[in-house]
Amino acid sequence: MQTGAKLPIHHSAWKSLESHAASMRNTHLRALFSTDQDRGQRLTAQAAGLFLDYSKNRVTDETMGLLYQLARESGLHEKIEAMFRGDKINTTENRAVLHTALRAPKDSTILVDGKNVVPEIHGVLAKMASFADRVRSGDWMGYSGKRIRNVVNIGIGGSDLGPVMAYEALRHYSDRELTFLFVSNVDGIDLAEATRVLDPAETLFIVSSKTFTTLETMTNAQSARDWLLTAFDGNQASVAKHFVAVSTNAEKVSSFGIDTENMFGFWDWVGGRYSMDSAIGLSTMIAIGPENFYEMLGGFYQMDKHYRTAALDQNLPVIMGLLSIWYTNFLDAHAIAVLPYENYLKRFPAYLQQLTMESNGKRVTLDGEPVSYHTGPIYWGEPGTNGQHSFYQLIHQGTRLIPCDFIAFAQALTPLGRHHDILMANVLAQSEALAFGKTAEQVAADGTPDWLVPHRVFEGNRPSNTILAQRLTPAILGALVALYEHIVFTQGAIWGVNPFDQWGVELGKALAQCILPELESPTSPRLNHDSSTNSLIHRYREMRSTVK
Ligand code: F6P
Repeated sequence: MQTGAKLPIHHSAWKSLESHAASMRNTHLRALFSTDQDRGQRLTAQAAGLFLDYSKNRVTDETMGLLYQLARESGLHEKIEAMFRGDKINTTENRAVLHTALRAPKDSTILVDGKNVVPEIHGVLAKMASFADRVRSGDWMGYSGKRIRNVVNIGIGGSDLGPVMAYEALRHYSDRELTFLFVSNVDGIDLAEATRVLDPAETLFIVSSKTFTTLETMTNAQSARDWLLTAFDGNQASVAKHFVAVSTNAEKVSSFGIDTENMFGFWDWVGGRYSMDSAIGLSTMIAIGPENFYEMLGGFYQMDKHYRTAALDQNLPVIMGLLSIWYTNFLDAHAIAVLPYENYLKRFPAYLQQLTMESNGKRVTLDGEPVSYHTGPIYWGEPGTNGQHSFYQLIHQGTRLIPCDFIAFAQALTPLGRHHDILMANVLAQSEALAFGKTAEQVAADGTPDWLVPHRVFEGNRPSNTILAQRLTPAILGALVALYEHIVFTQGAIWGVNPFDQWGVELGKALAQCILPELESPTSPRLNHDSSTNSLIHRYREMRSTVK
């Protein structure tokens, strides 16, 4: 489908940003702060309980003005409206993109093909809540009448990363009588280690797969079922008590042997990586309870409302999305580090890897034209302070520009002595050190010998955002996830790409299906790959059968 949309490089703001960037390349954050005393108070914004300080970015009012102009020229506002309205903006799959409907209040109306989808969404939420309550109270029992103590989510990609991230993030609110495990990798070790000490009679599997065809998930689900049946002497009736499914594909769920009564549905207009607040969040709801889950949805909704209505210069996802465009397209940055100073968010960077890179890792526009500018940057990170003792060296003194997002909370969920102040001192110190560095003069003034001075100089001028919230609650997690969902949308809207398909994962999947029988063939197969792949296949077949 042709949209005829202008490429971003043809917008006048893009051209202005290019020439503006030439002057900004040599402007240091030290100068920006010394000539603009209020910068630290002025370049801030807040929404849905999140406070954003973006003053330590290499931007002036002129830069931000040009970025907002770029957003306007790219039709960002109209594109946001089209998404919220339910237009089929995922053109390559002819689908609406309505993860925002998942957290819309009960009395909203959102039409897909003329049908209001909100009542159905709330119907599924109610079904999830009733099931979650039954598991949490012990009313839902295993086949032998034992109470469920372990919940194992089997899924991969969006059907794993969202649930595991949310469980870890909200563990403080979770029922500690229940154990939660997440199996994703087709490497048998993942399932074997997860089930090693579990009692099958006390274990509930949630098979989470939008399509219910994903090789990894179906292989794990099948092996989990075998594990259960071995414990129950092959009694098929046990499956109904120990397996439930989350999927859009009722037919496949039923042919796997799961009663569709125990299936929690969602819809093709929810992308996998945008699904943690759909039924894919069933494990989250069992862990934290329906009330907390609804609170999380409320946080998502607050950020949605903000994104849809706030002025560009007050709009957190717009500001952060545009800043990432500024670094990616005008200052040659290739990566963005996300650094939560909150250990409960330890899986947040992994979650964001899929959200950001599966969405905007694209090389053609919606019209199928190859882009002549960079798109999705590499997102990665680790919780502070661990990252500081690992890769921060490269951010401080390496040759690459790596903008950072620091995420921190004013209150610890479990205060322990001085830990939280120490943690906070570190996050504040890192953004200060990155921005302002330490000059050769300052290093020399410390008595450093001349030969060592260059090694100890911190150039500074490394940009960062700091996101600060009161404490990590379900609502704040919802707001934080929605913030990044909308940053991704903002980027995609400017680049003119489709953040909602993922054709790039298909080729590898198809080739694996072709190679698998070649590995399993009892006789030496005729191979038709390149010489490297052919010989690796032969070598694997030989090595597999050689005992050393
Ligand atoms: O890796 C591709 C992908 O389609 C992801 O987008 C998705 O989150 C994941 O596979 C799992 O898909 P499903 O939920 O259908 O098993």
